[in-house]
Amino acid sequence: MVDVLGIGVGATIVLLVVVLHFSRGTEWTPTEDISSDVLERRASTVPETDFPEPMNRSIGGGGVAAGAVGAGSEGELEDGEGEETVDDDPSAIPDDEAETYEIEFVKEGTTISVKENTTVLEAGEEEGWDLPYACRQGQCISCAGHITDGGHAEDYIEHHTNEMLGDAEMSEGYTLTCVAYPTTDFSIETGESP
Ligand code: FES
Repeated sequence: MVDVLGIGVGATIVLLVVVLHFSRGTEWTPTEDISSDVLERRASTVPETDFPEPMNRSIGGGGVAAGAVGAGSEGELEDGEGEETVDDDPSAIPDDEAETYEIEFVKEGTTISVKENTTVLEAGEEEGWDLPYACRQGQCISCAGHITDGGHAEDYIEHHTNEMLGDAEMSEGYTLTCVAYPTTDFSIETGESP
C-alpha cells in the first residue's frame, strides 16, 4: 500500500535539495588584498641603508678612503666620533705622496714595488695572482700571510683594521693581507695562517 505521507515528505526533501543546489549563495566577495600596500608603506618608513657590495675592492683600503666616504652626506659622524679617521687610513694617502716599498712574495717568486696606500692583497691581485681572501675587512683570517723576516708583523706593515690576529700571532709575523699596508721592505708567504 502506498504511503501518501511518506511520498509527500520524500518529494519535499528532494525539492529542497534541488533548490539549495541551484541557489546562488550569498554573493560574498573577498576583500581586496592590501598586504603589498602595507609592506610598501612600512618600507617607506625605514631609512635606506648603503651596505658595501660583497667583494668590493674598495672595502678595507681600496680606491676610496673610508674616512672620505659620504663626506657631507647624511649620517656623517662628527669629528672624532668614528673609529677611523682619514689620518689613520693609509689608503687615503695620495698616490703622488705615497712611499714605495719592495715586497718579496716568496711563493710567487717575485719582488714587487708596493705603495704605502695599497694593501698587500691588492698589490698581489694587481699582479694577477689569485690570492685568498673573504671579507676584505680584517674580520676573518682567509687572507692571512706570514712575514718571514722575523719579528712582529707590525714592524713591517700597518693593519688598518684587524679584528682577528692577537699580538702573539702578529709577533710571529702573521698578518691580514687585506688590511696590511707596507711601512718598509719585507718578504711574505701568502696563504699562511697561524
Ligand atoms: S679577507 Fe678577511 S681578514 Fe682579510
